Amino acid sequence: MFALPIQAEGTFTMEKMNRRKFIGTTLAGTMAMTTMLRGASNNTGKSRLKTGLIGCGWYGMVDVKAALKVGGVEIVALCDIDSEHLKNSADEVEKLQGSRPKTFKSYKELLDTPGLEAVIIASPPHWHALMFIAALEKGLDVYCEKPLAYDINEGKAMVAAAKKHGRIVQIGFQRRQSQAIQQARQYIQQGNIGRIIQAEAQIHYTAEMRDTTPQEPPASLDWDSWCGPGPKLPYCPQIGHFAWRLEKESGHGHLVDWGIHLIDATRWILSLTMPRSVQAAGGIYYFKDKITTPDILTVHFDFDTCPVIWHHRMWGAQEYDPEVSNGIFFYGEKG
Ligand SMILES: NC(=O)c1ccc[n+]([C@@H]2O[C@H](COP(=O)([O-])OP(=O)(O)OC[C@H]3O[C@@H](n4cnc5c(N)ncnc54)[C@H](O)[C@@H]3O)[C@@H](O)[C@H]2O)c1
Repeated sequence: MFALPIQAEGTFTMEKMNRRKFIGTTLAGTMAMTTMLRGASNNTGKSRLKTGLIGCGWYGMVDVKAALKVGGVEIVALCDIDSEHLKNSADEVEKLQGSRPKTFKSYKELLDTPGLEAVIIASPPHWHALMFIAALEKGLDVYCEKPLAYDINEGKAMVAAAKKHGRIVQIGFQRRQSQAIQQARQYIQQGNIGRIIQAEAQIHYTAEMRDTTPQEPPASLDWDSWCGPGPKLPYCPQIGHFAWRLEKESGHGHLVDWGIHLIDATRWILSLTMPRSVQAAGGIYYFKDKITTPDILTVHFDFDTCPVIWHHRMWGAQEYDPEVSNGIFFYGEKG
């Protein structure tokens, strides 16, 4: 058995996980995106790729800061439906690059910015498809945060649009660029543990709960626009900024939000394509009436060459060794 705890990236341990540490972890990985953005530029010499950001929340700004750190990018436009996020992000970008980006409430208006070449999409997932397809229709290259889509049909439409418009498209699976995952891939593909018969991935962590009482949204936030193509949910902080991940209408829960990184890495390490079938069992046992997606889940992805099994628990129940609460195990015929 070959274990790949995510600590192997030299970054964080789950039991000590907090938002700041996670941001630190992900920043380095986001460099991959900026390489893509530079590659996407038609410009040569010193001109910078004119890039816009849709969704100026936590990770949109992580992406932008990573892009500016690497260089070759100018953030010319920002869009958000929360006026406070928009202003704070514009202030921060101005400080970092020396020029203030244009700001928009409507992503459609941002996409019409003269000279715009590429866009980063970092809205919650239920908005991705519309923004992604609209950006491609404007002839832009796109870095879209994971998960690609809210559901399979939206994902298919997005793939079709990417093929049709022939632009550069990348999804925010930056862990593919992590050294630990690249080394694991090489080690396994060189046959060091023989044929892989089973893989298991898991992220157990302690989910922080916010207020679940329906209430007025913050004055700066246009909640109708946030809900957008999804159902109009009553606002509460537990499904607002950042916390939407455990709400089924926007984030689809922990497997889709965070587990997706490990499932993607497993598929990449083992060169797997699509599973033949998927079976899942779980439920909401600990956070009953607080969230709408499972706090306990086991999923069996049946791929041609081996099953991949996912587990999560979300209330602090660690693994027998907390070091592997976030990681992937590969079981090979030689070890
Ligand atoms: N690659 C990674 O490791 C990683 C890590 C964290 C988040 N993400 C992804 O990044 C995306 C954003 O996540 P987050 O944690 O930053 O969420 P967040 O809630 O902090 O930020 C989302 C932002 O989008 C804005 N927004 C919502 N609807 C909008 C609209 N119609 N037009 C413009 N802006 C709109 C919100 O107001 C908010 O500012 C998600 O897809 C998430 O899965 C990826």
